[in-house]
Amino acid sequence: MARKIVVTGGAGFIGSNFVRYILEGYDDVDVTVLDKLTYAGNLDNLKEVENHPRYTFVHGDICDESTVNEVLKGSDCVLNFAAETHVDRSIGDPASFIMTDVYGTYVLLEATRKLGIPRFIQISTDEVYGDAGDEPSDEESPLMPRSPYAASKAGGDRLAYSYFTTYGTPVVITRCSNNYGPNQHPEKLIPLFLTNAMDDKPMPVYGSGVNTRDWIYVLDHVKALEAIMNSGGLEGEVFNIGSGTELSILDVAGGILTVLDKPESLLKRVTDRPGHVMRHAVKTDKIRSVLGWKAEVDFETGLRMTAEWYRKNRWWWEKIKSGQFEEYYRKMYPELESK
Ligand code: NAD
Ligand code: DAU
Repeated sequence: MARKIVVTGGAGFIGSNFVRYILEGYDDVDVTVLDKLTYAGNLDNLKEVENHPRYTFVHGDICDESTVNEVLKGSDCVLNFAAETHVDRSIGDPASFIMTDVYGTYVLLEATRKLGIPRFIQISTDEVYGDAGDEPSDEESPLMPRSPYAASKAGGDRLAYSYFTTYGTPVVITRCSNNYGPNQHPEKLIPLFLTNAMDDKPMPVYGSGVNTRDWIYVLDHVKALEAIMNSGGLEGEVFNIGSGTELSILDVAGGILTVLDKPESLLKRVTDRPGHVMRHAVKTDKIRSVLGWKAEVDFETGLRMTAEWYRKNRWWWEKIKSGQFEEYYRKMYPELESK
């Protein structure tokens, strides 16, 4: 019998990569996407699968109890990707983050508990740790979120854990590092810098640019989630996911300039992000030993593949970068306007 999985936030970046990967690789998994289609949700990301016989799309909000109950009924696994995800937007307007990332997670957990769904995967983030300091964070490191986004995700993460400890709800929590790859919204660093550089526009570096992140190609993250979805047990467990490739913003920007053969003069220093985390880095010994998963795509290859995707799919990002995004961009980067 086919397994039925529910993917919330499946019209976003990682969710859509996950959905396409699962529908392509399995003939016994039915996928239902539940997505509110916020500014970050995009049905173009799911165009390839829109007529797939094992795919259903439901336009709805994870905060809406009746929709959630209806969609989750009879499912074997829920993967909660749905979230407000951009740190900068959370600084300007935290309310939607608290609503979706905390309350929405609660609505999903409550339905999971009541309906007796056998697996709930909460896609958390390494942002919950805050600054990694001298040592990469492991799953036992304290949670010290530094932005309203990170704090909301920490709320969802711990709420999911509490459903396991209190009610025995079969929850698994993942904390991945910075993803990059096809279909990432151009508000985020790598697609913003790639698409700006392709048009010879400035690449805005916050502050010193020496902050580091662990960069993982999106399909490596997808495969880690696949391994968790397919394994039994693991209830109440937390898994870090990362590539081990820690690079600064200036390193990443340099890589982009090389791949696109563009001049360094495109780099423009702008005011730093408040609460900016200097270092996100995670230890991944646990997922490697328990599930035998490890990241496979090296950064140079991943960046070339990503640049190639954005080069070939101008139609996709030009649509996003026009309209609403222009206003966001003007407000977010006033220093670029005056130059
Ligand atoms: P994204 O912003 O590209 O997509 C988020 C999706 O969620 C969109 O399709 C949006 O419409 C949907 N959504 C938002 N609010 C909703 C609501 N109330 N109800 C239903 N749908 C809603 O995000 P992403 O980068 O693909 O991230 C997906 C998940 O992975 C998030 O939970 C994020 O916190 C987590 N994560 C992301 C990264 C990363 O580097 N991008 C790393 C670690 C963890
Ligand atoms: O660590 C996982 C997190 O990675 C996810 O949970 C978030 O959803 C995802 O957005 C991402 O958060 P970051 O804040 O790390 O990603 P962002 O692409 O916004 O920024 C990456 C780094 O680049 C960060 O140090 C800020 C810097 N930056 C970003 C932008 C958009 C710039 O210097 N200039 C920019 O214009």
